[in-house]
Amino acid sequence: MTAEVRVALIELTHTYRQGGSLVRVLDGVSQSFHAGEFSVLLGRSGSGKTTLLNLIGGMEATQQGEIQLLGNSLVGLNEPGRAALRRRHVGMVFQHYNLVPTLCAWENVALPMTLLGVRLAEARRRATEELATLGLEAMAQRMPDELSGGEQQRVAIARALCHRPAVLLADEPTGNLDLDTAIDVVTRLVTLGRAHGTTLIMATHSLEVAGHADRVLRIAGGQLQVATAP
Ligand SMILES: Nc1ncnc2c1ncn2[C@@H]1O[C@H](COP(=O)(O)OP(=O)(O)OP(=O)(O)O)[C@@H](O)[C@H]1O
Ligand SMILES: [Mg+2]
Repeated sequence: MTAEVRVALIELTHTYRQGGSLVRVLDGVSQSFHAGEFSVLLGRSGSGKTTLLNLIGGMEATQQGEIQLLGNSLVGLNEPGRAALRRRHVGMVFQHYNLVPTLCAWENVALPMTLLGVRLAEARRRATEELATLGLEAMAQRMPDELSGGEQQRVAIARALCHRPAVLLADEPTGNLDLDTAIDVVTRLVTLGRAHGTTLIMATHSLEVAGHADRVLRIAGGQLQVATAP
């Protein structure tokens, strides 16, 4: 049986204006990502990994081509429409964490759940549990600026995971972690992903991390190519 397609990219093209010129970062990319599949996105700095993840998560509007998220097209949706789909189906770990500075660690983790209508007490319980599994039980009450880069990274991972999204997009989630912690975190993401059938798409520069993936995709010159398949 073929696994369900969770993310479909169809002839996706994205262009940025840089100074006076246009730079085509993605050039007619087509690819499918399935339930339970862990794909790693490799590519040089500036190749378009963050751009692609942000487009899939609906952080940016689709310019040309199509993105389908669990069968829903993102094309033509405005920001609130994309945000509604993102909240329901997607967890995002950003390259620069994007924790809310005025909320403590557990409140940051609880936020996506409360936006989905989970009661605060329940969201707090689940957030605290998730932080504990990432080794951050003592940090639950701390504010982001009282945490190291690696700790903020793990809070961001807990926040992305806690509502058990169908699609988890992770942008360099291990960039600030030492190798042992990085592999721990990736192993945890993969284990959870397998248990819940999560579609995990992770941009990374780490070949060690890529070694844990089902599929390695490489992005270069606006093209997305499968580098290795299972
Ligand atoms: N908002 C923007 N406006 C103009 N150009 C942009 C914008 N965002 C990204 N770019 C350009 O698009 C290209 C791809 O950027 P992107 O951030 O997706 O790369 P990346 O693969 O994530 O790089 P890194 O590994 O350094 O994180 C780069 O040339 C970048 O300068
Ligand atoms: Mg990036």
